[in-house]
Amino acid sequence: MSLQQVKLLQLPKILDDRGNLSFFENNNQIPFEIQRVYWIYDVPGGELRGGHAYKDLQEVIIALSGSFDVVLNDGISEQKFSLNRSYTALYVPKMIWRHLENFSTNSLALIVTDRFFEEQQYIRDFQEFKNAMHEQ
Ligand code: TYD
Repeated sequence: MSLQQVKLLQLPKILDDRGNLSFFENNNQIPFEIQRVYWIYDVPGGELRGGHAYKDLQEVIIALSGSFDVVLNDGISEQKFSLNRSYTALYVPKMIWRHLENFSTNSLALIVTDRFFEEQQYIRDFQEFKNAMHEQ
């Protein structure tokens, strides 16, 4: 897997004087079947979340409110995505090292994945991740 498979997806945006609306659906705007949704909130200033890769799990990350940066690394290069729109979803395939940082006050990160939570999906050691990438 490489950073070339990472994509920024523009979700539908229904503009309305009463307030705007966006949405996503299984296998439609989101390119996989959704199994789990979680969100990260109340992040104290300067804190980081993540710092791991998933062996076989895809996800999209959306800044529903506020802003934060998602830093992705495929074992060779690193790229930072600044998310600050509730209609922009960052697609992250399996086997990409990632962490989230630079959370604004009251930011809300929504993460949608194609698997239930399983600790054995995580690689939490960067050297182990790099070794696994080189074995592929
Ligand atoms: P973790 O994924 O390690 O957080 P981070 O995004 O900072 O890497 O999850 C933190 C804790 O929450 C961990 O003990 C597992 C638990 N957890 C669940 O029970 N279900 C979930 O869907 C997630 C994402 C985490």
